[in-house]
Amino acid sequence: MKTNPNLENVKVLLTEEQIQKRVGELAQALDSDYQDKEVVALCVLKGSVVFFVDIIRAMKTPVRCEFLGVASYGDEKQSSGEVKLTHDVKFPLSGKHVIVFEDIIDSGRTLNYLLNLLKAREPASLKVCSLLFKPNSLKKKVRPDYCGFEIGNEFVVGYGLDHAGWYRDLPYVGVLK
Ligand code: IMP
Ligand code: MG
Repeated sequence: MKTNPNLENVKVLLTEEQIQKRVGELAQALDSDYQDKEVVALCVLKGSVVFFVDIIRAMKTPVRCEFLGVASYGDEKQSSGEVKLTHDVKFPLSGKHVIVFEDIIDSGRTLNYLLNLLKAREPASLKVCSLLFKPNSLKKKVRPDYCGFEIGNEFVVGYGLDHAGWYRDLPYVGVLK
């Protein structure tokens, strides 16, 4: 049985060009703030992978790449409310300048969980760079320090974001109808 998603159900919200331009701007902002610092770039699996590989290559600052896995969503469009750590960072973060790269901040539960986990490892600094932010969905008192785009409450896919594992490979972000 064919299970491929129907791309006609995806209405473009942010084009590839808009995203790439914004990624370049965020990379410049990070470069100017992190000059001469020892930076650990933390990719939150899986949704942030596409954003992560683009932004670390757009940055001129050398970064050490580390990966952390969390799961909160299951296959539903609603958060389960429960955050699970599926892969931890092995590299010691103590004394390092850590930048967490997120695909999207929705309720803020994932980020809140991650920040508590990471703060306990005593990094020299801890900041968050999120491609997307849904300020009206927020349930926790967290905000990205660097934000690509603020969007409404709609469920979006593409550029790393999935629904039931699909759509991550789209170069744009779209609303799932
Ligand atoms: P939060 O914990 O509610 O802030 O949700 C964070 C995670 O839920 C993100 O890292 C995404 O993986 C997922 N998520 C939230 N909103 C969306 C969406 O609109 N599309 C796809 N995934 C989403
Ligand atoms: Mg997800």
